Parts: sequence; structure tokens; C-alpha cells
Amino acid sequence: MGYGDLVIRSYNAQKDRVRVEDLVRRCEVGPAERGFLFTDTLGDPICRIKNSPVYTMLVAELGNQLVGVIQGSMKLVTLHKPPKNLARVGYILGLRVVPLYRRQRIGFRLVIKLEEWFVVNGVDYAYMATEKDNEASFKLFVDKLSYVEFRTPAILVNPVSHRMLRISSNFEFEKLKVEEAESLYRKFMSSTEFFSNDIGNILRNKLSLGTWVAYPRGESWGSTFPSSWAMLSVWNSGELFKLRLGNAPSSCLMYTKSSQLMEKLFPCFKLPAIPDFWQPFGFYFVYGVYREGRCRASWCGPCADSCITWHPSQRIVR
Ligand SMILES: CC(C)(COP(=O)(O)OP(=O)(O)OC[C@H]1O[C@@H](n2cnc3c(N)ncnc32)[C@H](O)[C@@H]1OP(=O)(O)O)[C@@H](O)C(=O)NCCC(=O)NCCS
Repeated sequence: MGYGDLVIRSYNAQKDRVRVEDLVRRCEVGPAERGFLFTDTLGDPICRIKNSPVYTMLVAELGNQLVGVIQGSMKLVTLHKPPKNLARVGYILGLRVVPLYRRQRIGFRLVIKLEEWFVVNGVDYAYMATEKDNEASFKLFVDKLSYVEFRTPAILVNPVSHRMLRISSNFEFEKLKVEEAESLYRKFMSSTEFFSNDIGNILRNKLSLGTWVAYPRGESWGSTFPSSWAMLSVWNSGELFKLRLGNAPSSCLMYTKSSQLMEKLFPCFKLPAIPDFWQPFGFYFVYGVYREGRCRASWCGPCADSCITWHPSQRIVR
């Protein structure tokens, strides 16, 4: 394929929506031999970024066939790189090339085009997150595009509908007003690397379910801080898109089904059933987990089908 045949242009919802959805459905992420997650964008391929202040989506077209897609968004974050301590970063996500057209530099060209858009918009660093065993993605970004590894993340998932853990009555909980939450973030977390300077907008977004604090019963949340306290915020990702497990080993499916059957047959045993991750499920994203003081306030805010705590780390920056 000559490069001349390939057109990379902005996504046009009217023209491309159905084709992009179809393309994404045909692209598994990560090695085929182990389970991978499909993203169901609920009919809106741009849903993952449309809450960002500035974003774009590019498609790669060959003749009248859509063969690749990439998304990007931008934000201002804290970065400890004197003399600047704020940087404009561009986040690359949703890179997909249809299997039949892989290894023809389409992915490479999509990233380069997106980087051009970043440069025009004054971005200092581009970053993306990928799994370590996604060889194609890792090699593309590290070997070919010279990205460097920045952090190693932990994504912690917890099905919460069958939560066995009881919250101790020694704690009181309070949902904060957005202004209060924003000032906590700015006071305690704004020096953390990659802190989002638009935290106020994130907290005000309709998908933000709120910020809660916990502190020892008997103390109060007011003009002074309790002797110890913890906070977290919750974002409802399930309103934007759903996830579904694909291609997991059949033993895994059988284990899930039998645990659900056990729960139905013997509800008195209160056996925690494994949720059916083969059906699309939404999740709440728990972020801004922070604690002050000696007392360990172990608690969890209200959750949907599952909670995902993401320590935003495995980022590749160049
Ligand atoms: C990752 C992906 C977008 C790469 O697209 P692509 O168009 O095939 O990639 P390119 O042809 O531009 O590859 C450029 C370079 O990346 C590396 N690369 C790409 N695919 C590779 C693979 N399967 N194995 C090893 N290296 C690979 C190679 O260095 C390649 O250069 P080379 O062909 O000269 O050796 C594609 O495999 C894909 O859609 N995967 C599924 C979705 C995904 O995992 N997305 C990334 C998560 S953000």
C-alpha cells in the first residue's frame, strides 16, 4: 500500500459513527490468547473524550473503507519540571487498526497526525496508557515513536453488589459541596504530579457523583479538620460506555456461572457470586483517594456494578 492511498481526517459523526462502532467491535485490544475487554460505546464512539475540554478523533480511510481510528484530548496538569510546574498534556487513546490492515504503518501515521494536532494546540507532552503485554502497542510507541515509560499503574477492580465488608460505625460520612471538594483537592493534592488543573470542572460534571469524607464519629467536619479523615470522589463511567470481557478461558466462564448458581440455590450461605463480566457492565471510577491523620478510615463510597480504582500511572510521555 502506498502512503498516498491513505487519508487521515477528522471524524464526522454523521458519516462515520456506525463504521467506527463496527471497526472498534472488530479490534480486540491486547494479545488474543488471553481475555480482553471490549468497550461498548453505547452508540457514541466519541463518548470517552467528549467530557474533556478539548478533544479530537481522527479516522484513517483507504478508498471508502475505514481502516483505523484514534482519539486525543488535552488538559493542563501539574508536572515537576522546573522552571514550569504546569504542562499542557495530550492524551492518546482508542487507537485501533482493523486486523487486515495492520503492519502497514497506519497506526504510526494516526499517532503522528494526532501529535500534529497536539503541537498546533500548544501541547508539551503526549501520553498514553497501555498494557505491558500489548506488544503491538508497546513496540509502536516505544520502539518506533520513542515514547518512554513514565509510570507502572495498578488497576484495581471490585464487584461491589455483593460486598461482605461492613463499614465500621466508628466513622461518620459526609458528602461535600463541589466548592469544598475542589478546595480539598487544591490544598492537599495539587502538588502531585499529573494533578488536573481543571479539577473544578471534573467535579462539576454531571457524571461526577460526588466527593465524600469519612472521619471519626464524635468529631465534626467544619472550620477545622478532624484528627484524621479520608476522602474519595466517584465518577460514573457507566453512563458513557460499558465494558465486556471477551475471549476469556471457558474455565473462567464456568466458574462464574457455577458461583452464580450456588448463590441462587443457597442464598442463606451468602456466598459472593462472581459478576457476569461477559455481559456489558458499567463501572464507577473511584479517584482522589486521600487520607490525613493516624486513624485508618477504611471505607468505600456507594458504587455501581463494579468499582475501578485507577492510580493514573502507566503513562508514556515523550
Ligand atoms: C496497536 C495497533 C494500533 C498497531 O497498528 P498498526 O497499523 O498495525 O501498526 P504499524 O503498522 O503502524 O506499526 C508500526 C510499528 O509498530 C510495531 N508493531 C505494530 N504491530 C506490532 C505487532 N503486532 N507486533 C510487534 N510489533 C508491532 C512495529 O515496530 C511496527 O513497525 P514494523 O512493521 O516496521 O516492524 C494495532 O495492532 C491494533 O489496532 N491493535 C488492537 C488495538 C490496540 O491494542 N490498540 C492500542 C491500545 S491504545
